[in-house]
Amino acid sequence: MPLDRFGREIDYLRISLTDHCNLRCVYCMPLEGITYAPSEDLLQPAEIERVAAAAAAVGFRRVRLTGGEPTLRRDIVEIVARIASVEGIADIAMTTNGLRLPELGRPLVAAGLRRVNLHIDSLHPERLPQVMRWATLAAVHAGIAAAEDAGLSPIKINSVMTRGHNEEDAVDLAALTLARPWHVRFIELMPLGGGECAQLSRERLVPTAETRARIEAALGRLTPVPAMHPSDEARLFKLAGAAGIVGFISPVSEPFCGTCNRMRLTADGRFHLCLLHDDELDVRAALRRGADCEEIGGILLRAVGAKPTGHALAEGVEPLQRWMHHVGG
Ligand code: 5AD
Ligand code: SF4
Repeated sequence: MPLDRFGREIDYLRISLTDHCNLRCVYCMPLEGITYAPSEDLLQPAEIERVAAAAAAVGFRRVRLTGGEPTLRRDIVEIVARIASVEGIADIAMTTNGLRLPELGRPLVAAGLRRVNLHIDSLHPERLPQVMRWATLAAVHAGIAAAEDAGLSPIKINSVMTRGHNEEDAVDLAALTLARPWHVRFIELMPLGGGECAQLSRERLVPTAETRARIEAALGRLTPVPAMHPSDEARLFKLAGAAGIVGFISPVSEPFCGTCNRMRLTADGRFHLCLLHDDELDVRAALRRGADCEEIGGILLRAVGAKPTGHALAEGVEPLQRWMHHVGG
């Protein structure tokens, strides 16, 4: 397994498949003025397979597909199948808003997808579309049900608390774990992408400590449970008698860079070294001039070697030109 210069074992590749999305969550995508990568710049299924094979050859074991919304790729089932065919890749997961899972859940599982992280910011039918613009509660629920029906497990659900929109909804969302074996994870807003979304994320941050106190006041004590994976960015807890788990991901109040084991590949074929820095290494050009597995693996190892550690979001340092929907969360 490749070690970076800070001794982190980097074995987890997140592959963004598109910068398009069928939603416009307030903190992620503006309603206007979005620029997309030209479609000829997007990596094709065979190119993605070559990167996955090179990654496996240098010790990567896990792949997560992200976006934007990865299920908007018409070739999504083929992409999953190709990655699943790579020897050495033990686990394929996806981060999705779930809206397309009623059609795609079963074909994706048949192709080799194991797990999904879904996304729901409120259980309130009027508040949910204020945060997850263009979504309805019914459509989001249908996506979660489809993920369960397809056998994707465990079901992890991300919620981003946004002041003035949905911070009170943390209680209902956490209460989902009482009866269901789901992981409901509350994510602190990160000021990504510049423009109105970054501005909103700075102004509407709800610190984890506050969300946790709100949940405990309503539902009782959250007891810590051990992490399932040492580099899990979520701190995990259980409500008394609960079937599921409540998690907190606190990139602002409690940065987890020291255990970050991931490398990101953007939809247009660049290794992005960190979500919170703009440094990238091009791999598409190498793929398109016919580079072999060894050369691609070499680029990946260089990217691992250059991976930074540490960010200063808490001090209000300006990150990033790239948007979340370009890089994949
Ligand atoms: N801050 C924190 N989380 C974000 N996400 C999207 N934008 C932001 C942001 N600015 C989350 C989504 C999804 C995951 C991919 O990242 O809600 O759950
Ligand atoms: Fe789309 Fe996810 Fe961004 Fe919402 S957070 S706009 S679902 S990519």
